[in-house]
Amino acid sequence: MAKTKRDAFGSKIGIIAAAAGSAVGLGNIYRFPCELGNNGGAAFLLVYLAIVLVLGVPVMLSEFIIGRRSQANAVGSFKKLAPKTFWPIVGFMGVFCGFVILAFYSTVSGWTLEYICKSLMNGFHGKDLAILEQEFSDFHNMGWKNVMWQAFFIFMTGFVVFKGVQKGIEKYSKILMPMLLVILMVLAVRSATLPGAKEGLAFLFHPDFSKLNGEVLISALGQVFFSLSVGMGALITYGSYIQKNDNLATTALSVTLSDTLVAVLAGIVIFPAAFSFGVQPEAGMGLVFNTLPLIFNQMTGGYVFCLIFFVLLAVAALTSTISLLEVMVAYLVEEIHIKRKWATVFACAATMCLGVFASLSLMDNTPFVIGGKTVFDGLDFLSSNILLPVGGMLIVIFVGWYLGKKKFYEEITNGGQLKIRIKTLILFIIKFVAPLAIAIIFIRGLGLFN
Ligand code: PFF
Repeated sequence: MAKTKRDAFGSKIGIIAAAAGSAVGLGNIYRFPCELGNNGGAAFLLVYLAIVLVLGVPVMLSEFIIGRRSQANAVGSFKKLAPKTFWPIVGFMGVFCGFVILAFYSTVSGWTLEYICKSLMNGFHGKDLAILEQEFSDFHNMGWKNVMWQAFFIFMTGFVVFKGVQKGIEKYSKILMPMLLVILMVLAVRSATLPGAKEGLAFLFHPDFSKLNGEVLISALGQVFFSLSVGMGALITYGSYIQKNDNLATTALSVTLSDTLVAVLAGIVIFPAAFSFGVQPEAGMGLVFNTLPLIFNQMTGGYVFCLIFFVLLAVAALTSTISLLEVMVAYLVEEIHIKRKWATVFACAATMCLGVFASLSLMDNTPFVIGGKTVFDGLDFLSSNILLPVGGMLIVIFVGWYLGKKKFYEEITNGGQLKIRIKTLILFIIKFVAPLAIAIIFIRGLGLFN
């Protein structure tokens, strides 16, 4: 088998920054507020947090275990750990899912570039909500412009992945992720002190449980998996770069905590401002791209903040798209034995072929609608609400039941060197609680059994 260079992550902080770089992205700042707004606010947040803790951490840990133990890509890892079984199919599903996510994720990633240019030219200054909304919608209708930015973003992703990810990602993630956090905190304070912000905070923090139903549960489950980058092998691939003496459990916990913190902070930035400016919480895509420029308009130094914010959003998206592309490229290089360069070109071209339809499906009167959903929403739904939960469930079943207790303890304690007091509890969750809970939420969410 062709050996790829696996210069492992250099430091514990580096691993956390890189895995958090994959996890923290548009999912936190853009998708999370959309989902929360559409699913009733605080009740969604509570369910989200519960799922992060009970299901997100164990699935992430399981992926790290599979990756580090096998030292291989998403498909190869199952081939190595479970030769001559059907398990590699789970890896294939992951590679396919990465392809699907990247196809629509790159659409929104492209928008961040357009919005960087707009902020550079002070293009939001003095504009009210109606104008911003109109411009946002006009932009969607310029199909070619969306596709151009999308292609450019995929090109940048390909460039980094081709150059070799580890040094680049580790180095930049360590600086940029903390910067993003600080900017979000400043924005959160500004937003929460706007007139009328209280209502937004109440929407975020006072749950109305009558809003809970199967659909909310599956949306929360999908959002957790999407946001944490679990269920599709991205963290199996990154796990294969983690060193043998690193503590997998605390790494998983730190990544999860940072990711969740960024999502909640994004909520605190968006909703108070949305209520203050009279934007509907269900406004979907417009929440970030219209509401935030409104806050910046109100701030001293708004021009600079606006620019920095969209740059960081683009960077957050980039560290995520890199991990998505890396899943495909690592597979092509190690399993199909294609040179890294051609693997990257092929993966980018294939993604673009599907991605074009995602971008063009957001135009008014678009023909790219399937079963009442735009291609963009369809790909989002297929990956987040179907492929990720099913993938996550199979991954925990694999670790809990196929790898088994002995190997699980070996990995989580680094061959007996670490003392993990709750390892029995974690194994119990991975073996029984997580697969069952995911299955139930999944079946209910699809409305198969109400
Ligand atoms: N977690 C990323 C986000 O929240 O934006 C999206 C993502 C990246 C999902 C990588 C899956 C993945 F493998």
